[in-house]
Amino acid sequence: MKILVTGGLGYIGSHTCVELLKEGYEVVVIDNLSNAKEEVKDKIKEITGKNIKFYLGDMIDENLLDKIFTEEKIDAVIDFAAYKAVGESVQKPVEYYTNNISTVLVLLKEMKKHNVKKLVFSSSATVYGNPEHVPIKETDKTGGTTNPYGTSKLFVEQILKDLYKSDNAWDIAILRYFNPIGAHQSGLIGEEPNGIPANLMPYIAKVASKELECLSVFGNDYPTKDGTGVRDYIHVVDLAKGHIKALEKLEREQAGLYIYNLGTGIGYSVLDIINAFEKVNQVKVNYKIAERRPGDIAECYSDPTKAKQELGWEAKLTIEDMCKDAYNFILKNKNN
Ligand code: UFG
Repeated sequence: MKILVTGGLGYIGSHTCVELLKEGYEVVVIDNLSNAKEEVKDKIKEITGKNIKFYLGDMIDENLLDKIFTEEKIDAVIDFAAYKAVGESVQKPVEYYTNNISTVLVLLKEMKKHNVKKLVFSSSATVYGNPEHVPIKETDKTGGTTNPYGTSKLFVEQILKDLYKSDNAWDIAILRYFNPIGAHQSGLIGEEPNGIPANLMPYIAKVASKELECLSVFGNDYPTKDGTGVRDYIHVVDLAKGHIKALEKLEREQAGLYIYNLGTGIGYSVLDIINAFEKVNQVKVNYKIAERRPGDIAECYSDPTKAKQELGWEAKLTIEDMCKDAYNFILKNKNN
């Protein structure tokens, strides 16, 4: 099977390309390198011994997509290409809605034109807004998103539901990721945020490696076990494997629209993560307690039962693996 991976050189995309190649899929990538480096292509080759076919360009470019679908005989698409910085999305809503929604519309139009109707879409737990309870099930209420990034994911989910309603020959899996962290065990690929990281794990790793001075823990007065925010952190390699299982489901079923949480089902607090990181890497993480970050919620973790039952997928790697691999990647790529 030949898979088009949009945004395939990015953080989750690159790890998914590795798993696809390992499983014997052919991989075609389109990426505009807005938040990725071309050298990731070589790193994927180094890990797997296999090549991907790479198209440099933007998904908004209908002609380019048309060319790819015409030349490559694509069987299914995994769509990662999107902007994903929550804070930035508040400052740049038009850019976020344009990039995260218009590109999907162009993609769907081209998929329809070329009769490719199998799609795995990269969504997020952020579509649940401030959850009414935890753990969160797929059937729980969505909406009440607090930033344009989250709203863009919610809108695309709705577009996909409407599309399926209009033509139920489509075969679509919507994957709602919880908090992906960590990196490939080789240290060759991982998360490389531009500038100062907004997310917890890359920030911790940079404090530990002395690139940043001190982590601010955003609030210790939440109604959680130690007062700090609780999240469902999932190793990016486990997450990548979830995409293979979703593709296999689409191959089995022929048509349908399926939604899955991809998480571990375990909630860890910010202090849990700091402690695990220090212990497994034998390194100090300087931190101070700071004000709550606007828009943050107290607790968010998944009920991953549906993915286990229907996809035969569950996260295997531990919080220690996540901390070890995140730090290994930062140390190996410190001076890049
Ligand atoms: N945190 C800190 N200090 C930091 C950064 C984060 O204390 O410097 C805390 C946050 O307050 C939160 C936890 O660490 O309690 C996790 O924060 P992240 O920014 O790493 O992740 P979020 O849960 O806020 O958001 C992430 C992704 C979103 C996605 C969401 C889904 O960034 O894209 O998970 O649950 F939508």
